[in-house]
Amino acid sequence: MRPLRTMGHTALATLLALPLILAAQVGSPQPAAASDNGLALRPAMGWSSWSFVRRWPTEAKIKAQADALVSSGLKDHGYVYVNLDDFYQKCDANGFVVDQYGRWAVDQATFPSGIKALADYIHAKGLKFGFYVTPGIAKNAVTQNTPVEGTPYRARDIADTTRQEKNYNCKNMYYLDYSKPGAQEFVNSWARQFADWGVDYLKIDGVGSHDIPDVRAWDKALRASGRPITYALSNNLNIADAPTWRQLANSWRTQGDVECYCGPGSNGSGFPLTSWAKITSRFGSASAWQPYAGPGGWNDLDSLQIGNGDQVGLTADQRRSHLTLWAMAASPLLIGTDLTALTATDTAMLANDRLIAVNQDGVAARRIVDATPRQVWAKRQPGGDHIVALFNTGTSGNQTVSVTWSQIGLTGPATLTDLWSGQSAGQSATGFSATLRPGETRLIRVTPGSGGSVRYEAEGARYTAGSTVDSNHGGFSGTGFVNTPNAAGAYVEWSVASPVARTATLTFRYANGTTADRPMDVSVNGSVVAAGRSFGPTGAWTGWTDVTLTVPLTAGTNTIRTTATTGNGAPNLDHLEVG
Ligand code: GCU
Ligand code: CA
Repeated sequence: MRPLRTMGHTALATLLALPLILAAQVGSPQPAAASDNGLALRPAMGWSSWSFVRRWPTEAKIKAQADALVSSGLKDHGYVYVNLDDFYQKCDANGFVVDQYGRWAVDQATFPSGIKALADYIHAKGLKFGFYVTPGIAKNAVTQNTPVEGTPYRARDIADTTRQEKNYNCKNMYYLDYSKPGAQEFVNSWARQFADWGVDYLKIDGVGSHDIPDVRAWDKALRASGRPITYALSNNLNIADAPTWRQLANSWRTQGDVECYCGPGSNGSGFPLTSWAKITSRFGSASAWQPYAGPGGWNDLDSLQIGNGDQVGLTADQRRSHLTLWAMAASPLLIGTDLTALTATDTAMLANDRLIAVNQDGVAARRIVDATPRQVWAKRQPGGDHIVALFNTGTSGNQTVSVTWSQIGLTGPATLTDLWSGQSAGQSATGFSATLRPGETRLIRVTPGSGGSVRYEAEGARYTAGSTVDSNHGGFSGTGFVNTPNAAGAYVEWSVASPVARTATLTFRYANGTTADRPMDVSVNGSVVAAGRSFGPTGAWTGWTDVTLTVPLTAGTNTIRTTATTGNGAPNLDHLEVG
């Protein structure tokens, strides 16, 4: 799909206005005002270094991941951020080594060309660069009493040395006292440096409710920097302060890390990167935080552990459920895996534009059924379609998960599309249900209205060996029609999805340019429902005509077959419509 950020301003503005109007219509709580910094109108998409590269980032590793983001094709699907997380800095015995203005020094051993050169490299590929910081001021800045750039103030004027900030790396970070002149200016100088380097996205980590002054100071500083820098808060933010996060920042981590820290490397690094329990623990928080997501501010469920197959700690079913929840919740999609070793299956998952469109529609879904391990999530898109996700979050046993249209605020029939496969999932007047393996999901688009009927082309069906897909007699739909050998037993067989057991109208379109009947048995799921049904002459091979009959369908996939009963064979078959 075309990333939304390339849309014209007017189209985007129209799209953006709709979710809030809709939210009001369906009675969802009105979210507090979002940040008005004009950024993150849709959830960010890209890659972050923390899950796989972990504590050992280098210039070369980050460049290799940026290269892979492009060569894998994922960039063209909208994954544009390359986010360098923690551990680019240098520590000594007293904490962070600092520059002449008291800001963290970059480790020259691992980033010899510096951060600006890295950002330039990433920008040259049409990508965006994300960076990382935590609140406060380093102890080394205070010890050296470094000046605050462009001011008469110094580190000791602005540090509160009685309190230490949370930090996961060199530690030894003091609180800043924002009542002191120079404190805001210190943060401004740091933001200015990031802007000069070309930072497009800043994650400020180790943030808690006690850091609201820092969150505010960084918001001001980023705005003052003059560069558009998407502003992300981390991690495990307090939901009681959600209106504040929403007002100040563009995303906020709703929980602790999705990483399991259970790998064989030091500090639990390496595969597996996560576990199914780490993913399922996000369902509850995504539901609780749902009212706070919207254009400009998003609930960040943490990195996507998709890309390297089962070794991440999730089965393929679980990975699809993982992406489905992130898409439904409108979470940022920041891949955490090794992009230089992507599997074909996982690349296809990440590149599924139907899933991406669900993530980028600007609407966070609500959980409407919580009968764990059965869960149903739903949202209504600006265009009026409903998106429904069904989950079996359990680890053993199939579950039949169901939704009724009244549960999603829909009356009347709807036409369904399976968004993982892109296939039609038929029509239903009442609802949808699916039997799901442990960890499996189903994601469906529910378009109000019967939409007439669903057409299945014969050329997309199965047919007798020796048949050909021809196009020499005009007037067919799709790319052609199926011409079977003229013998008894010649057949065409369609697979037809039905969300529920129901009575359906089948319409076969055919041509018979001879003067003799070409009768066929019509069977549904192996039972003949119309024996020797007449498919009479149509005057010419271009004389396409309909044969209609009413049959029972079961819930799930139905097999519909037409089989010639005489040596005349079958007529040319164009398509089957199911209404
Ligand atoms: C003709 C016609 C075919 C048709 C065939 C038949 O060859 O061009 O489209 O299938 O007759 O008798 O079955
Ligand atoms: Ca034929």
